[in-house]
Amino acid sequence: MSNEEAEPSEIDTCHVSVMPDEVVYWVASPEVAPTPPKIVIDGTYGGGGHSRLLLEAISGADARVIGLDRDPAVSARVESESHDPRLTVFLASYEQAAKALEQFDLTSADAMVLDLGLSSDQLADRERGFSYTVDGPLDLRFDPENGVPASRWLAQHDEKQIADAIYQYGEERFSRRIARAIVAKQRERQPISTVNELVEICRRCVPRSRNHDIHPATRTFQALRIAVNDELGILERTLRDAPDWIAPGGRMVIISFHSLEDRIVKNAFRDDDRWEVLTKKPLRPTESEVAHNARSRSAKLRVARRR
Ligand SMILES: C[S@@+](CC[C@H](N)C(=O)[O-])C[C@H]1O[C@@H](n2cnc3c(N)ncnc32)[C@H](O)[C@@H]1O
Repeated sequence: MSNEEAEPSEIDTCHVSVMPDEVVYWVASPEVAPTPPKIVIDGTYGGGGHSRLLLEAISGADARVIGLDRDPAVSARVESESHDPRLTVFLASYEQAAKALEQFDLTSADAMVLDLGLSSDQLADRERGFSYTVDGPLDLRFDPENGVPASRWLAQHDEKQIADAIYQYGEERFSRRIARAIVAKQRERQPISTVNELVEICRRCVPRSRNHDIHPATRTFQALRIAVNDELGILERTLRDAPDWIAPGGRMVIISFHSLEDRIVKNAFRDDDRWEVLTKKPLRPTESEVAHNARSRSAKLRVARRR
């Protein structure tokens, strides 16, 4: 399809959806869903790629995809686009899914998809601070209208709290060294307010990995993003509450991108009797997908069915 022919929604985003065929299979294939799904929640709408495929996969005028995203830029983009009338996107965290269903006098969905982390559009936006390769304000919030930016988060926490977060959420061995350097700079009345300032500290504190495959700032940026957005807390609470809003037989399909998220999903599915695990081991993208979409390389997809 050329650009002139493309729907506006297809050209306004550069994000390539991860494991698209697998998501559609677990939501809508007759092998998994003997009754065709009507109500599907896309909890992390992003570029809308999964939602578009899900809209194609569900049928009937009463079928509906409810999208949620915490990023106001996402909801603003959706409002400016023409799209399928069976799609509604709310500016809200996916843990608010029950409230979104209420808007349609519904109490449950037939499936929910979560594609965790951030989109390529967010990574490319220099005002957001998500990429350590692009200088800009050190913000790292999915929703810049709420909460505190990472720069202020660093100013509000002491050395031990910063080190613990970088260790726990980034699995960074040099967390104490990094936290010490951050606090020392702040003591000199030099708050860390930009991406480059933090990258510089990470470069000084983290020895280069042997094959140079991991940038010294990767783990610290991941940790701060998780802390500032309470990503793991939201995921845990959602997995605890979702059985209340997924209909019996309905599926929860989750793509995660690092071991902390994947562990939470795996344990929640395993330990809660209301879920039946459909993927004993996480599914991984095919080699051909990874070759075409590098972002997919660390993806793990798990599915559970509401008993
Ligand atoms: C990887 S992208 C999703 C891409 C999307 N599946 C697609 O195919 O275009 C993740 C999205 O989740 C959003 N997000 C992160 N945490 C969220 C939360 N708690 N609730 C809702 N959206 C969230 C981000 O703002 C981002 O747009």
